Amino acid sequence: MTDPMIRLDGATKTFPGTSTPAVDALSLEVPTGEIVVFVGPSGCGKTTTLKMINRIIEPTGGTITVDGVDVRDREPHLLRRDIGYVIQQIGLFPHRTIAQNVATVPRLLGWDEDRTRARVDELLVTMGLDEELGARYPAELSGGQRQRVGVARALAADPPVLLMDEPFGAVDPIVRGRLQVELLDLQARLRKTIVFVTHDIDEAIHLGDRIAILNVGGHLEQYAPPEDILREPATPFVEEFLGPERGLKRLALRTVADLGELGLGNCVQADASVEEAAQVAAEHQERWIGILDGDRLRGWAWVSDLDGARRAGDVETSLFRVALSAEDTLRAALDGLVRSRTGVAVVLGPDQRYDGMITLARLNQAMVS
Ligand SMILES: Nc1ncnc2c1ncn2[C@@H]1O[C@H](COP(=O)(O)OP(=O)(O)OP(=O)(O)O)[C@@H](O)[C@H]1O
Ligand SMILES: [Mg+2]
Repeated sequence: MTDPMIRLDGATKTFPGTSTPAVDALSLEVPTGEIVVFVGPSGCGKTTTLKMINRIIEPTGGTITVDGVDVRDREPHLLRRDIGYVIQQIGLFPHRTIAQNVATVPRLLGWDEDRTRARVDELLVTMGLDEELGARYPAELSGGQRQRVGVARALAADPPVLLMDEPFGAVDPIVRGRLQVELLDLQARLRKTIVFVTHDIDEAIHLGDRIAILNVGGHLEQYAPPEDILREPATPFVEEFLGPERGLKRLALRTVADLGELGLGNCVQADASVEEAAQVAAEHQERWIGILDGDRLRGWAWVSDLDGARRAGDVETSLFRVALSAEDTLRAALDGLVRSRTGVAVVLGPDQRYDGMITLARLNQAMVS
């Protein structure tokens, strides 16, 4: 783990007039440049924890440091300059234009007009928002656009830390998926330290370098990378929270590239003899054979159709309909192979070069080793 940007050490909040703490002695570290996702049931203390980090809520116990400094030793307004905050339900100011909303923090910091305008324009572009949207009011935007504005506003003063409280909660799954990809693209460029809150375990798995699974009272059930949590849930609560199909969720976290060299697979060159083709197919326990022209995959043929031919390439071939590339997920590979007549998923490299094929056994081996 790199040096933590945020450290919670026994962070506790008991609201006035309540007997049990909303967050009870929560300890965890958020490494610099990573996305940590908080998931957990409603009311478990996620928002309270975020607000303790930027001191919108004062902790009643424990210590929180940001970049090595106790948050209590910092002026709240200076602390919040370093911490972008996307609040739950977006929270754009309805009577201010989009550009004015995005300019909130620069204005508080006393930036001049030109610098502020340039920054707003830059952020609208960064977030994939049309420049003309700047003059509109929040009510004149779609839900997905509003959520992007919320992120743009939080990024305005280029803070090293971002707190995002269910930033994509209010949009449909397709827009949400797109916003997630955009956030990961953005993060690859900006390398912020991000604490991201969600109810959605799939969103947590997709975005998180680490996931903190919280129970009522801010009780930390498990804190680990998604792969580890899926492979070995620490408690029955975590297991239930992860829901069904843990194997498929793990497959979605790995890519074809993670499998390394795939080898030639069940294939021969077109000029191979029919006997050789039959033998290779038999070694792979298949009734079909792939036919190569050098480093191109021509297609596949049933071994029985080779009867009477001289060369493997003399018969008509069928195309492999699904072809994967290195960056596809293993979940996509599984989907491809179960839909394929041959039961394998073909992998193509740059220029359609044949890079090998993925079998169910290979996938299984990768997941259990
Ligand atoms: N100002 C307050 N006064 C008293 N209790 C509060 C206050 N704010 C929050 N709480 C309580 O603290 C607990 C944690 O609330 P919090 O908003 O942190 O939950 P959450 O995990 O963000 O939930 P959700 O997923 O619904 O947003 C809840 O029981 C809530 O009722
Ligand atoms: Mg909340």
